[in-house]
Amino acid sequence: MKILYAASEALPYISTGGLADVVGSLPQAVLGALGRRADVRVVIPLYPSIRDKFAEQLELVTEINVRLAWRNQYCGIWKIYSQGVTFYFIDNLFYFDRRTLYGNFDDGERFAFFSKCILELMSAVNFYPDILHANDWQTALAVIYLKRKYSHLDEYRGIRALFTIHNIDYQGIYDFGILGDIFELPEWDRNVVEYNGCINLLKGAVVCADMVNTVSNTYSREILTEFFSSGLHHILRQADAEGRLTGIVNGIDVDYYSAEKDPDIDQNFTADDLSGKAVNKAALQRYAGFAENPTVPIVAMVSRLAAHKGFDLVKHVLEEIINENDVQFVLLGTGEDAFEKYFIYLAQKYPNKICVKLEFNKVLSKKIYAGADMFLMPSKSEPCGLSQMIASRYGTVPIVRECGGLADTIRAYNEFTGEGNGFSFANYNAHDMKNVIVYALNMYKDSLKWNHLVKNVMNTDFSWNVSAKKYIEIYENLL
Ligand code: GLC
Repeated sequence: MKILYAASEALPYISTGGLADVVGSLPQAVLGALGRRADVRVVIPLYPSIRDKFAEQLELVTEINVRLAWRNQYCGIWKIYSQGVTFYFIDNLFYFDRRTLYGNFDDGERFAFFSKCILELMSAVNFYPDILHANDWQTALAVIYLKRKYSHLDEYRGIRALFTIHNIDYQGIYDFGILGDIFELPEWDRNVVEYNGCINLLKGAVVCADMVNTVSNTYSREILTEFFSSGLHHILRQADAEGRLTGIVNGIDVDYYSAEKDPDIDQNFTADDLSGKAVNKAALQRYAGFAENPTVPIVAMVSRLAAHKGFDLVKHVLEEIINENDVQFVLLGTGEDAFEKYFIYLAQKYPNKICVKLEFNKVLSKKIYAGADMFLMPSKSEPCGLSQMIASRYGTVPIVRECGGLADTIRAYNEFTGEGNGFSFANYNAHDMKNVIVYALNMYKDSLKWNHLVKNVMNTDFSWNVSAKKYIEIYENLL
């Protein structure tokens, strides 16, 4: 089986979020499960930081020109071969040499170009996959182009497309004025991408793809409702009725995120010997400027500071929690200005109890995962969520709201049976969240029970083993 994954980011090359984790680890997992029967490749843009950091590994494959409407642009194709998977990088400085990956005025054009290159790459390197597995709106046009522009060509006719939605909130919405001029779509394809009077690229991919999935089962049901769908529930219900919508929960790279092996944390440890976790905790307390006290629990968040990550709730009750309980709170992340300012203010007000770092810092994030006791993730919606799984790998107990992938990966702890791998609450309500945090803080005082819970958490299987097989099942069904 030949599979081409297409996305706007992939680890270890470039990452702004969970998408990169998935695109950097699912292909290897699929290859591992299929063995010799598979040829697995990935394509992403060549951002300047990749060129800098991976210069020695990058190998030029070929150079072509790619047309997009009246444009005719250079397209260099580079590659790196890593653990059995070929990663292709699309080189064009005009489109990809920018300060940020997204948020440029011409993102629509940039990723339309990238999507066109994905299809042209197939003939340029003579690799026509059985499956094109595209991800999120940035590669939605690759699916649309495949079905609307290329499928009359012999080599492309047999290619089946799976489109994965990692977050329905980002759809690629544009004015109809650029349908032909930028997206190179004729008037008769207007209805393919039309939604609510605009071009909606995600909608177009949902309509065109042979199969669509989201990154957890619960989320694939949630997005059929208005509350979660960002307006697209009608389209998704249609796809669901046609049997084209499913959900597969993400795994994580359990070798990379491993308390036992991670070189970035202060001391490695295992579920059977948690003594090393105490060393990480003490280091985190020193770093945060807190009292170095093993009996005071640390609640941590590593997250984009966005409302839908639940920061409304946190903002509402964090002071109460801090004042009424013996607890320390650490927050790492960047995001909405109002939240950044508020949490900086709180950190200054409670320097001994609240530590806030406004950065995107992978190494520090792992020190926090390893040093904290509880990991808070009260999302309003969460397609899958990776941090709750990552935290678990370091024995830090997740406290989550029961939605999307959080509901599919975390089962609430039952103090009477000892079952479960975290704490959870159902309603998007600040005091419901506070109550469950306080419950967890009380549970923490019983070190026998707590250590048992930490073991459960660390022993939960978050590898790709099960989910990679589910993807393979989809690929096989499509063929
Ligand atoms: C997006 C989603 C997140 C998911 C990730 C990887 O970032 O918001 O929930 O885990 O994609 O699929």
